[in-house]
Amino acid sequence: MGFFGNIWNTAVLGAVAVEGLKVFNLSESSWTLSNQQRNISVPAKLPSVAHLDLFAAGVIPDPYLGLNDFDLRWVAESNWTYASNIKGLSRDANSTWLLFNGLDTYTSITFCGEHVAATNNQFRQYWFNVGTILKDCKGNDPLLRINFGSAALIAAEIANQPGQETWPWRVEGLFEYIHRQFVRKEQSDFGWDWGPAFVPAGPWQPAYILQNSSDIYTNNNTYVRNTLVDIYREGQLPLIPPDQTKPWIMNISLDVIGSLQQGDTIAYTLTDLNGKWIQAGNAYYTTINLDTNTITARVSINPNYVDLWWPNGLGSQPLYNLRITIMRGYRMTLATIVKRVGFRTIVLNMEPIRQDQLDKGVAPGNNWHFEVNGQEFYAKGSNFIPPDAFWPRVTEGRIRSLFGAVIKGNQNMLRVWASGAYSPDFMYDVADEMGILLWSEFEFGDALYPVDKEFLDNVREEAHYQVRRVNHHPSLALWAGGNELENLELGIVNRTAPQQYDRYLAEYEKLFLDTLVPSVFENSRSISYTPSSTSNGWLSLDFSRPQPITQRYNNKTAGSLYGNTDYYNYNSYAAFEDDNYPVGRFSNEFGYHSMPSLQSWQQVLEPSDLHFNSSVIQLRNHHYPSGGLNTTNYDNSTKGMGEMTLAAERWIATPNKKDPVANFSSWCHATQLFQADYYKNQIMFYRRGSGMRERQLGSLYWQLEDIWQAPTWAGIEYDGRWKVLHYTAKDAYKNVVIAPFYNGTLNKLDVYVTSDLWSEATGTVNFTFYDWSGNPLDITTPPTIPITIGAINTTIAYSFDFNAILKKYTTNDAVLHMSTTVQGTLPNSNITKTFTHENWFYTPSMAEAKLVDPGLSITYDEKEKCFWVEAKKGIAAWVWIDYPAGPVVWFEDNGFWLKKGEKRRVGFEVAKGDLGWVDEVTVGSLWDLSQP
Ligand SMILES: *[C@@H]1O[C@H](CO)[C@@H](O)[C@H](O)[C@H]1NC(C)=O
Ligand SMILES: *[C@@H]1O[C@H](CO)[C@@H](O)[C@H](O)[C@H]1NC(C)=O
Ligand SMILES: *[C@@H]1O[C@H](CO)[C@@H](O)[C@H](O)[C@H]1NC(C)=O
Ligand SMILES: *[C@@H]1O[C@H](CO)[C@@H](O)[C@H](O)[C@H]1NC(C)=O
Ligand SMILES: *[C@@H]1O[C@H](CO)[C@@H](O)[C@H](O)[C@H]1NC(C)=O
Ligand SMILES: *[C@@H]1O[C@H](CO)[C@@H](O)[C@H](O)[C@H]1NC(C)=O
Repeated sequence: MGFFGNIWNTAVLGAVAVEGLKVFNLSESSWTLSNQQRNISVPAKLPSVAHLDLFAAGVIPDPYLGLNDFDLRWVAESNWTYASNIKGLSRDANSTWLLFNGLDTYTSITFCGEHVAATNNQFRQYWFNVGTILKDCKGNDPLLRINFGSAALIAAEIANQPGQETWPWRVEGLFEYIHRQFVRKEQSDFGWDWGPAFVPAGPWQPAYILQNSSDIYTNNNTYVRNTLVDIYREGQLPLIPPDQTKPWIMNISLDVIGSLQQGDTIAYTLTDLNGKWIQAGNAYYTTINLDTNTITARVSINPNYVDLWWPNGLGSQPLYNLRITIMRGYRMTLATIVKRVGFRTIVLNMEPIRQDQLDKGVAPGNNWHFEVNGQEFYAKGSNFIPPDAFWPRVTEGRIRSLFGAVIKGNQNMLRVWASGAYSPDFMYDVADEMGILLWSEFEFGDALYPVDKEFLDNVREEAHYQVRRVNHHPSLALWAGGNELENLELGIVNRTAPQQYDRYLAEYEKLFLDTLVPSVFENSRSISYTPSSTSNGWLSLDFSRPQPITQRYNNKTAGSLYGNTDYYNYNSYAAFEDDNYPVGRFSNEFGYHSMPSLQSWQQVLEPSDLHFNSSVIQLRNHHYPSGGLNTTNYDNSTKGMGEMTLAAERWIATPNKKDPVANFSSWCHATQLFQADYYKNQIMFYRRGSGMRERQLGSLYWQLEDIWQAPTWAGIEYDGRWKVLHYTAKDAYKNVVIAPFYNGTLNKLDVYVTSDLWSEATGTVNFTFYDWSGNPLDITTPPTIPITIGAINTTIAYSFDFNAILKKYTTNDAVLHMSTTVQGTLPNSNITKTFTHENWFYTPSMAEAKLVDPGLSITYDEKEKCFWVEAKKGIAAWVWIDYPAGPVVWFEDNGFWLKKGEKRRVGFEVAKGDLGWVDEVTVGSLWDLSQP
């Protein structure tokens, strides 16, 4: 153990810098990809996967076109070898290491013809000492070969081994390739209900060769292969709201390749992003673990010298650069790295409901919500899935653009779904800057998993690496063990094999508690952990036990509320019946699928396939009935395509246009309108819950974006184009919203105003009834109603008894406009602002409404760089501004309604492309959908 005061500053200034190990970035080598049996050999890249290199070389067509998801199965079922002759290596280095930050997935690696290792986990970092091989290697430029096996075939081989574990029927969610649970690889690579099954293989992350140089410090070189920085309040433990008055503790721990010695120390400097030095630290200690080659230091930071980091909409996002140096003595630096950090606490609070909460009317049970810097807040967001089937082409620029849309959409949290890949650092970096909380998950989902020693050891390595790698990002909000495990998977076992429930529960706990909890809690005091994305939370939490978490499962008391909720109902008949929605503390998944736009379909379909039920479209719809591609129980009424058609006909319109492409486009749009309306209704319901007995504090809809062009739950299409949903969610996630809650049995409408501001807001509400021609109806509505809404709360503005007031009118020719204007302040701000929101209500269904031509027009205002949209003749429902294929445009507002005579200014931002499209913009509304 070494001890340092604040003397590191001068020590570093006077130090002799040693370069560290010589690092060869293998991205700079020239690579080939080959398959001997098929006589294929093409130039390749690193990082990459076989599909991308084969496509670039013209060996295969664009994998996203047409039915290539099926036609390219041979690529997924072949071995692929990446090879490169490595130039410039020194033959007299003391040691030489191969370092891979990610190999997808099964490999056999040779160097200079000698076997080095085999790997079997996409999510681990691997490093191998090849010094001896290199010394004995004859000839120049030793050959590095990585032979990738077929994960699809190997999964089946593993599953078929004698004595291999099995699970009851339907525990494994079935998609295109089965047995994915045996493979530590992105689970959605095997197919998912929103995505293709390419099962890619290749060196998907950067790779390096490290050599020590031949200077005098040869033996002193180290390379930092992974870094943990954990910033928490003194005394803090995971899952427990910490004392916000305590100093910050910063735990720094570096995993190195190279030779550490007892007595080596860590020095650090903390600066703001302008480089201003922050004198905030106190004495710290360094410890060295020579077994794991890890050097760790802990320092206390005076909280007065650093500013708090807040999520989007709740404050600012100050970040700091932490420069960490490994020192030998006072003069020699062995390695230096810089991590950008932030100071915040984020806790998933699942503690029992307190007396003061009961006194306010909160239902008994347990909490289930996030607190940032000790503050409750309403989490608004969606679920993130892999934005591409091939991660090497997901650039920081793409994530920046996607996250820009998240911010524009008034979201502050994304749940990064459990069966993709651990997010790259640049994704957390962008989230750190923008203030997007990333609820992160280990990559397990919709299955139960093996628990043999080899599998668990493999998972432990993966989890240890990933937890340490990303912990310093202030945007990291949570670790969850996996997707839908307790509510869905254990539930299936309980139903289909109840006599085996205890066995599978014990296995579940072995992986998701006994293996993953230490992986998180031994590395992080700042981040909470929950074993399953959706669950009833913990029953007890006690850090004096070896396993601090005991889960509640179904041990519930009637009348009490506990966990978070996940809700899907494909019977669209019941879509708008609020009492079907789950009442819980937080909603982490809910949704319904829709078609992408014509413009997106045109990217991948032949013109002849541009009709709603073309076989290519049907086959790109992977939302099969439960049971997967099993034709014996194929029920047309539950097929994904049928669900969309029925919902559109029932609630929106039945387009029947003469022009087949226009008709197709209208159908796609109609499914999007239903989707948007359905999500809006649910978001409003969950948000209102913040002021109901459930004290509901979060709504994350399924799903933010698309992985390809297909019918899915996404709000943003593959190339970034927004569906109606993303606009509607943007509106529904405004701070203050007014919303109708209709009870069809009583024919009664309650209108609520909900606010997620942190202090009381006051203002007014107004109502007017119209017919579809836009004439006010002779229905007595209340005059302006004053309202007050508490902090993160809701208030009922008015109740309408339709039996009494709508007698004179037919319901399909009456719509209610409602609006609210309130004064309030944004969190962490003391400037009073005006918040406005408007909404509409109609019954029974838009498909039955007596729509009239609203006389819509749109004009581009060259000077103001905006559009003007006007409805001259009637009420325009679901106004939609459309633009041609190519660019990606974010309108300030879209999918809105206009009153007769209303003219709205609509600004926009071009997210991709130039302004060439402005003259080709069109505008339509619900009325246009049903025109021939
Ligand atoms: C395919 O790859 C796997 C994993 O690297 C390897 O074990 C196997 O021998 C390879 N097969 C062939 C024919 O190259
Ligand atoms: C299993 O199913 C039974 C019967 O529906 C139910 O009472 C019990 O709570 C379930 N147990 C779990 C742990 O889900
Ligand atoms: C159910 O929870 C209660 C506490 O609420 C606890 O005393 C009891 O042991 C639990 N039962 C089981 C089977 O875990
Ligand atoms: C298809 O589904 C039925 C039950 O609906 C099941 O008995 C059968 O095993 C399934 N077939 C396959 C190949 O999964
Ligand atoms: C269901 O779909 C299949 C295949 O598309 C079709 O042959 C069959 O007639 C349909 N059944 C019903 C009841 O619509
Ligand atoms: C409508 O009101 C009835 C009677 O209060 C109630 O039972 C029902 O759950 C309500 N329905 C909805 C959708 O709120």
